[in-house]
Amino acid sequence: MSNIKLAVVGVGNCASALLQGIEYYQRKASVDSAGLLHRTIGGYGLADIQPVVAFDVDRRKVGRPLEEAIFAKPNCTTVFQPEIPRTGVTILMGPVLDGVADHLKNYPDDQAPRVADAEPVDVAAALRDSGANVLVCYLPVGSEDAVQHYARACLETGVAMVNCMPVFIASNPEWASQFRDRGVPVVGDDIKSQMGATISHRVLARLMGDRGVRLDRTYQLNTGGNTDFLNMLEQSRLRTKRISKTESVQSQLDVPLDPDNIHIGPSDYVPWQKDNKVCFIRMEWRGFGDVENNLELRLSVEDSPNSGGVAIDAIRCAKLALDRGIGGPLHEISSFAMKHPPRQLRDSEARDLLEKWIAEGAR
Ligand SMILES: NC(=O)c1ccc[n+]([C@@H]2O[C@H](COP(=O)([O-])OP(=O)(O)OC[C@H]3O[C@@H](n4cnc5c(N)ncnc54)[C@H](O)[C@@H]3O)[C@@H](O)[C@H]2O)c1
Repeated sequence: MSNIKLAVVGVGNCASALLQGIEYYQRKASVDSAGLLHRTIGGYGLADIQPVVAFDVDRRKVGRPLEEAIFAKPNCTTVFQPEIPRTGVTILMGPVLDGVADHLKNYPDDQAPRVADAEPVDVAAALRDSGANVLVCYLPVGSEDAVQHYARACLETGVAMVNCMPVFIASNPEWASQFRDRGVPVVGDDIKSQMGATISHRVLARLMGDRGVRLDRTYQLNTGGNTDFLNMLEQSRLRTKRISKTESVQSQLDVPLDPDNIHIGPSDYVPWQKDNKVCFIRMEWRGFGDVENNLELRLSVEDSPNSGGVAIDAIRCAKLALDRGIGGPLHEISSFAMKHPPRQLRDSEARDLLEKWIAEGAR
C-alpha cells in the first residue's frame, strides 16, 4: 500500500480548503472528527495523502509553492489552518484552453483570475515525473476543453481521476468506457457537499415521496461571492451545471417535475459574501385532499470547506480502486459523493453500498 500521491488541477478555493483540511485533521489529536465522514478508508488516513504536483494558470499562483498559492488572491475561503508545512510542490502552468471566461477581465484583481504569461507544461509528462496516482479536478464551470485535456492525460498515464466539477466524464458513457478500457478509475461528476444545497433539496424531495405527498413546484436559488459564483455569471458556461443540479433533485422524485415547475441554479454573485454561499429553497406540495402546503428554507454555508470532507473520501476511494485493480467509473463513491454520477441512487442506499464496497471490495 503506497501513499496517495495527489495531483491538484485548479488551485482555487476548493483546493485550498482540501489541503488545509488534510493538515488540520493530522494536527487534531482528539477523537473529535467533526467534519469527517471517515478517519480511514481501506487503511488510508489523511496523512497518507501527499500532494506531488499542482496545475493552475493564475499569475499569482504559477511558480509559487503550493502551500502559499492556496492562500493567494482571488482565493477567499476561510483560513482555518494557516500553517501548512512545505510540500515541495511548485505550481505548474497548465494549458489555459477554456479555463478562464472572458467576462472575468471586467472585475477587479482581487476577485478574478489573471492569466500568467508562461508556457504551459506537458500535463501527462508532469504527471509521470511526479509519480502522481490520483488527480483531483477543480477547474471552473464551463471548462469543457480543459477538463477533457486533463482526463486524456489521466488515461495516458494511468492516474485515477476525481472530477469535482460539472463537465461530464464519469457520467459520460464514451469517457466512462475509455476509463474502463484502460483500467483507470474515475469518480464523478460535480461534487455534492456535505451539508449543502443539493443534498438538502434531494433529501426533502425524497421525503415528500416517502410521506405520500406530491411535490408540484420547486426552486433553489443560490448566491455567493467567490470566483466560482463570479464565473457562473456567464450563462453560456452554465449548461452542464444546471443539468447536474436539476437532475440531482429530479432523480429523487417518484414523478419527475415538468421542467417549467423546477428551477435550480447559481443565481447571483454578491462580492462581499466571499466564500459564504446562501441558498433559498421553496417547495410547494399537495397533501391529503389535494390541500396545498409549502416550505421555505434558507441555508448559509462556507462553500469550499463544505465539499472538502467529501473530496477527501473520493480521493481515498480512487486510490483503493487502483490497489484493487478496478478501472472505469466507481459507482459506489460516485453515487454517494457526486451530484451527477453515472447512477443516481437514494443517498441512504448510496451510503450503505459505499460502506460495503470499502469493507469488502465488493462491486
Ligand atoms: N462546494 C463547492 O465549492 C463545490 C461544489 C460542487 C462543485 N464545485 C466545483 O469545483 C470547481 C472548483 O471550485 P472552486 O471554488 O475551487 O473554483 P475557483 O474558481 O476558486 O478555482 C478554480 C481554479 O482553476 C484555475 N484554472 C482555470 N483554468 C485552468 C486551467 N486550464 N488549468 C489549471 N487551472 C486552471 C483558476 O485559476 C483557479 O485557481 C468548480 O467547477 C465548482 O463549480 C465546487
